[in-house]
Amino acid sequence: MDNIEKFYKNKNVFITGHTGFKGSWLVSVLLMFGANITGYSLNDSKRKNYNRFLNYKKVNNIYGDILDLEKLKKSIRKNKPSIIFHLAAQPLVAESYKNPLKTIQTNLIGTTNLMEIVRTQKQKGLKSLVIITSDKCYLNREIKRGYKENDILGGDDPYSASKAAAEMAFNSFRKSFFLKNKRIGLATARAGNVIGGGDWSKDRLIPDCIRTIIKKENLVIRSPSATRPWQHVLEPIYGYLILGKKLYKKPTIYSGSWNFGPKSNQTKNVKTVAEIVMKIVDKKRKIKIVFKKGDFKESTLLKLNSNKANKKLRWKTEWTMNNSIRQAALWYDCYLNKKDTKKMTQSQINNYFNKK
Ligand SMILES: NC(=O)c1ccc[n+]([C@@H]2O[C@H](COP(=O)([O-])OP(=O)(O)OC[C@H]3O[C@@H](n4cnc5c(N)ncnc54)[C@H](O)[C@@H]3O)[C@@H](O)[C@H]2O)c1
Repeated sequence: MDNIEKFYKNKNVFITGHTGFKGSWLVSVLLMFGANITGYSLNDSKRKNYNRFLNYKKVNNIYGDILDLEKLKKSIRKNKPSIIFHLAAQPLVAESYKNPLKTIQTNLIGTTNLMEIVRTQKQKGLKSLVIITSDKCYLNREIKRGYKENDILGGDDPYSASKAAAEMAFNSFRKSFFLKNKRIGLATARAGNVIGGGDWSKDRLIPDCIRTIIKKENLVIRSPSATRPWQHVLEPIYGYLILGKKLYKKPTIYSGSWNFGPKSNQTKNVKTVAEIVMKIVDKKRKIKIVFKKGDFKESTLLKLNSNKANKKLRWKTEWTMNNSIRQAALWYDCYLNKKDTKKMTQSQINNYFNKK
């Protein structure tokens, strides 16, 4: 598995959004690899993952806003990272309809702040910056083939637009200020619908399934036939980690944008995923599934073409879609039954990275 464990051992890594869903998994994997982690996030309720994932006491936690340029700059200067992963964002489409300005500020200006710090600070040891955007950065034309990295960017809702805008800002900084800089590798990473334990976001399918069990309510499903490129969170995390390493070693070759999604023949619709999850977490079948039309426009097909990452990074999804959905459900089943989710997280990471 690309020897990434050895690479990250003792490296200083700075992660924005480290308390969120993907951030918690990234922190957990990197702690197991022996990296020194500094995390920068809002001091918000997302911290509830703290006692469910690996030992956050080993992380240098900083609470700050990604929009606070001075604080972010000082935190990066002080902790001297060699690799930065940027995940801090407002990540939800539905929330972006309620708070469009905040979404665009956080996602666009947050990303631009990091690019500006890297541009002006010229910190010697910093060699790689991986910015997490989204598959939703593409103009959705409901096409059957998967979107390629050089497809047109777009976005009809504020979230998608904020991610497309972050991509454009990234591209402009790279082309304007970094083409001659061979010391640092800069990339954006676009991943599709990510599933796994520890996601508590509203309006995401699996967290919604789990909330119905806690609240003993019907499960209401919008767009049951919409297909998504579901993948377990460890898949893109693995992709980000390979990318972080490659950028560090060969910045000019690997800088740019990268898609991380399951094979093109792997998609499942919302209804099927909900049924697989409920079978595991609601064994006594107490929850009724109800289908309803959503309030917002949602794309019916969203697929990524990840050939570039498959070929050049030798990245591919390791788990089948069925197994990914199962692993996600098993994590929540462990949580619902008040068992040790830290152990479950650790065992899923070990299993994914083939560690004994
Ligand atoms: N989860 C998915 O399915 C998915 C799919 C595509 C893209 N993404 C992207 O992946 C990244 C991580 O998403 P997630 O699902 O882990 O989100 P999340 O909501 O679980 O976590 C977001 C993190 O960002 C931090 N954050 C939010 N606003 C901030 C601010 N103003 N300043 C500092 N920190 C702030 C939060 O504290 C939290 O740590 C985001 O960029 C998101 O858009 C996620």
